Amino acid sequence: MPIWYGGDYNPEQWPEEVWEEDVRLMQRGGITLATVGVFSWARLEPREGEFDFGWLDRVLDGLHAGGIRVDLATATASPPPWLPHAYPEVLPVTADGVTLSVGSRQHYCPSSPVYRRLAARLVSAIAERYGSHPALELWHVNNEYGCHVAHCYCDVSAKAFREWLRARYGSVERLNEAWGTAFWSQQYGDFAEVYPPRAMPTFTNPGHALDFDRFSSDELLDCYRMERDILREVTPEVPITTNFMGFFKGVDYWRWAKEVDVVSDDSYPDPADPDSPAYGAMVRDLVRSLGAGRPWILMEQASSAVNWRRRNAAKPAGMNRGLSYQALGRGADGILYFQWRQSVAGAEKFHSGMLPHSGTETKTWREIEQLGGELAGLDRVRGTRVPADVAILFDWDSWWSIEQEATPGEIPYVQHAFAWYRELHRRTVTADFVSPSADLSRYRAVIVPSLFVATAEALAGLDAYVRAGGRLLVTFQTGITDQDAHITEGGYLGVLAETLGVRVEEFAPPAGPDLAGTGGAPVPGTAFGGELIRGGTGTLWSEYLHSEGADVLASFEGGELDGWPAITANRRGEGRAWYVATLPDPDAMAALLDAVLSDAGVSPVLAQPVEGVEAVRRGDSVFLVNHTPAEARVTLNGAEHVLEPRGVAVLDIDGL
Ligand code: GAL
Repeated sequence: MPIWYGGDYNPEQWPEEVWEEDVRLMQRGGITLATVGVFSWARLEPREGEFDFGWLDRVLDGLHAGGIRVDLATATASPPPWLPHAYPEVLPVTADGVTLSVGSRQHYCPSSPVYRRLAARLVSAIAERYGSHPALELWHVNNEYGCHVAHCYCDVSAKAFREWLRARYGSVERLNEAWGTAFWSQQYGDFAEVYPPRAMPTFTNPGHALDFDRFSSDELLDCYRMERDILREVTPEVPITTNFMGFFKGVDYWRWAKEVDVVSDDSYPDPADPDSPAYGAMVRDLVRSLGAGRPWILMEQASSAVNWRRRNAAKPAGMNRGLSYQALGRGADGILYFQWRQSVAGAEKFHSGMLPHSGTETKTWREIEQLGGELAGLDRVRGTRVPADVAILFDWDSWWSIEQEATPGEIPYVQHAFAWYRELHRRTVTADFVSPSADLSRYRAVIVPSLFVATAEALAGLDAYVRAGGRLLVTFQTGITDQDAHITEGGYLGVLAETLGVRVEEFAPPAGPDLAGTGGAPVPGTAFGGELIRGGTGTLWSEYLHSEGADVLASFEGGELDGWPAITANRRGEGRAWYVATLPDPDAMAALLDAVLSDAGVSPVLAQPVEGVEAVRRGDSVFLVNHTPAEARVTLNGAEHVLEPRGVAVLDIDGL
């Protein structure tokens, strides 16, 4: 089987004469998989209960005749106008009480029984009609669940929220306890008194807000499961996916990933952002990790510019290829785009396509064709795994909670994780992401950026990992609350305080600069230094920290915190645990990570990393991607390899 190559194909936007040309050009471009029908509900069911499949039959037959496989969508992401017209209660409502109208997409309340009933009927009809179509390779459920509407605050959602809470807590007394409703006279006498956290005079109860995030993710997941179960019943042998969106806050992908047969992801790094290659790599590593290391599909990317940024940079020649190889190197078995043919009407007509407005005599098409040709020769990569010695702990409960209102200081959760990831990426150390309940035993080192919400079991798991010989690096704002958003019993960090040999007395976040300001002026009080690191600067955080047995590797210098520990290390059982009370500047972080990784025995892919060159091992190959516009020279196992500007190489290391 080849590496899948293709994209979203929306033939309903074109007259039928164009479809033949589409198939011909797809063949020329090396396309093997087309995602069809993502936004076809209105065409498939033009009036309630009246289905029109004739046109889709012809599309699928044409693709099949051309040797192109189909990832067939269930078309439920954009209800046709007749639906909310007949059943206005399906329209979603924002926290401010605004009803979202028809005329774009995703205008449905995930809890709506009407939406679910009509979606289920459509999915059944599609499954019955195409379940045995010879072109069918994969089912594509809905599209980017939650992308535009991750939360709905309408009355239907309110009712569903109450049911969800009843199932979670059993009694309203238990809910009161969990939410700490003794505060501000919030005690509920009955579940009926609970509402979604709609616009309020001031801060929402943190437990209420956290549970609404969990509920909203679960409601969308229920929509997915409903469709998945219908498809599975009709075609037990056809794999099912729904496209994720990398670090997307709206839904907890750890819970979702268990429910799909193949993880797939949509990814649109900004060509104008110098951090995009590293951030893109982080997303790929998350996506691979969601599927427990199984190969995944890059379901959507842009061949060049998107249309939804303030200014939409075109991809410079070679960037699309580089980012595609990055995905392959990090475990993808498919490289797809949004979309095949660039639209001439509608809200996405300025979004690039594989086949641009300007046709085939274009840099975009030439690159599409070139990549198609290259992928056809990379079968050997398919199905292989990406080894990683390091894990980064990532948790949606912590993300939701740490970014709530009324916290000690703003911490952008993903950017914080990215600050650590970027340094690993720079030194060509591959990382997996793990959930708080993951088995960590196969990792040499684990990094825990601000695990704000942690159950006692999760903290005990981290402690056990260290005692058994693991190397653990924990940052500030970890173990602050339990799963009910209550301050951790026994003090911040819980049992991890013993693991780390420290005690957090009080938080003292500096007044900026924030993460974006790594080049900004140091803020008094966040300088730190010690034997390991001299002249460090911390951003984002500082605190009053005591060592209770840990070695102090660096202390804050100057200001109120002068002399208080900033970075510590502690032996525990067979392992060692570091605590970092600030976000070190890149040089200081580099020194710290070098120490941690060498203590953990982690080897990078390249002994001498080259700035701007990404290296990752997959199976018996090493993927090199030069993300810079200049030639680069890389030494691997004693041999030098020259990479063209934005060039790539896949080196066979079999036997080495
Ligand atoms: C995705 C979506 C596609 C298209 C694309 C544009 O979010 O799934 O349908 O809108 O973005 O970048």
